[in-house]
Amino acid sequence: MFNELINSIDEELKRLLNPVYPERIYKAMGYSVMAGGKRMRPLLMLLAHKAVGGDKNDKRIMTFACALEMIHTYSLIHDDLPAMDNDDLRRGKPTCHRQFDEATAILAGDGLLTYAFELMLYDPSFKYEPRYTRAAWEIARLSGMDGMLVGQVVDVESEGKQIDAGTLEYIHKNKTGGLIKAALMAGGIIGGADESKIKLLESLGEDMGYAFQIKDDILDVTSTEEVLGKPILSDEKNQKVTYVSLYGLEKAQKDYIELSRQAVDKAKKLGEEAEQLADYINSLVDRVK
Ligand code: IPE
Ligand code: IPE
Ligand code: MG
Ligand code: MG
Ligand code: MG
Repeated sequence: MFNELINSIDEELKRLLNPVYPERIYKAMGYSVMAGGKRMRPLLMLLAHKAVGGDKNDKRIMTFACALEMIHTYSLIHDDLPAMDNDDLRRGKPTCHRQFDEATAILAGDGLLTYAFELMLYDPSFKYEPRYTRAAWEIARLSGMDGMLVGQVVDVESEGKQIDAGTLEYIHKNKTGGLIKAALMAGGIIGGADESKIKLLESLGEDMGYAFQIKDDILDVTSTEEVLGKPILSDEKNQKVTYVSLYGLEKAQKDYIELSRQAVDKAKKLGEEAEQLADYINSLVDRVK
């Protein structure tokens, strides 16, 4: 159902990452971005834009969607590094530092992050409308000091420690919730949503982000490497407290479904045009990877 949108995201990503000199960096960036992935964050952005009645002819929404996928892929490349989770497989292929080397993987992550902001802040019309600047700002803070980065910091410093429920919630809502919130809010902001809808998108993003990471923790212990395209039991290897290790598999599954339902209900409140967004969030409940 969402294949057409995913294909157009993939096409645009490929175009944006077409190698020029120095080719090695484009190759490493393109390798990790084009290795696969569900494209959930760009999809959420496009669907949120549609949900608030955004302009169908606005080409920049696709640029922002691809930029967010680049930021997400940078976070995966760095998350897999030996200094972090030390994993060898991602999206069914050797991780970036395995395929190339550590220096190239660090630079590919840096490249994807900075290129993403270059793309978002370039306005071909030179009008510099505030909505794009605000969307880029929300993405910046939710990728960094108010989202993904600080979540990863507490995740890494908590390795081998018995953390409490509040700390785990902080980790999950930031390391994973950050970019999901960013996707939904930026889509809404660029689509011209009013403040109450932006708040609703933020709150739905928070539920979804938490739910998504709980499911990621579940899949780490219940799936297989072949299906997931990344190593299983990575959390145990790194002595991470996860939602599953803290509450058990049964409660994890129950809470994950409940949070997802909550997110779907919030999406529906956005109005008629939010049907696809609600359907997509609902389709993630049964995801196997
Ligand atoms: C993996 O994200 C990292 C987490 C935040 C759990 P995804 O499960 O969206 O990974 P891809 O993009 O499909 O590879
Ligand atoms: C990482 O969480 C989330 C990111 C910000 C990359 P995990 O370390 O659990 O993600 P996976 O399981 O490696 O994809
Ligand atoms: Mg990690
Ligand atoms: Mg990891
Ligand atoms: Mg994981």
